[in-house]
Amino acid sequence: MRLALGLERFGLHCLLMLLGLTAPPPWCWAAGLDPQLLAQTRHCLSCHAVDHKVVGPAYSDVAQRYLNDTAALTRLAQKVRLGGGGVWGAVPMPANAQVTPEEARVLVQWILQLSTPPNQATQPKRP
Ligand code: HEC
Repeated sequence: MRLALGLERFGLHCLLMLLGLTAPPPWCWAAGLDPQLLAQTRHCLSCHAVDHKVVGPAYSDVAQRYLNDTAALTRLAQKVRLGGGGVWGAVPMPANAQVTPEEARVLVQWILQLSTPPNQATQPKRP
């Protein structure tokens, strides 16, 4: 569902861009990179999913966490390439050295727009 929404937004943005109605979002002009395909071919999705935790955090949770953080794009794009830990739990993310800086920005930009309302975050409710 949420994934479909993300894709819809992505498609709409690119369509509007093609019609000249809006500025092209980076993932449109970055060599036609499809962020979701990229996430697959760069193996991000073996540890991440959009809406639930796998080894790493759900991308929708990542988006939620950095909603008002204007420096997040640059910082996370770097972390994707170099790896690192200490934010979401004991397990660190290994370096993804095969990802170029441009690809990392496209991926993080995509991730950061996947936020969901706070009441849908993955925290299980306890009585
Ligand atoms: C081997 C498993 C693994 C792979 C592969 C992986 N990640 Fe991660 N990722 C993690 C883990 C574990 C964390 C949590 C790290 C932490 O707690 O700081 C994480 C965290 C993140 C974060 C949030 C970082 C933060 O500081 O909040 C982003 C964004 C991210 N990953 C994107 C990616 C992208 C994009 C790729 C593909 C290029 C990728 N990951 C591949 C395991 C992985």
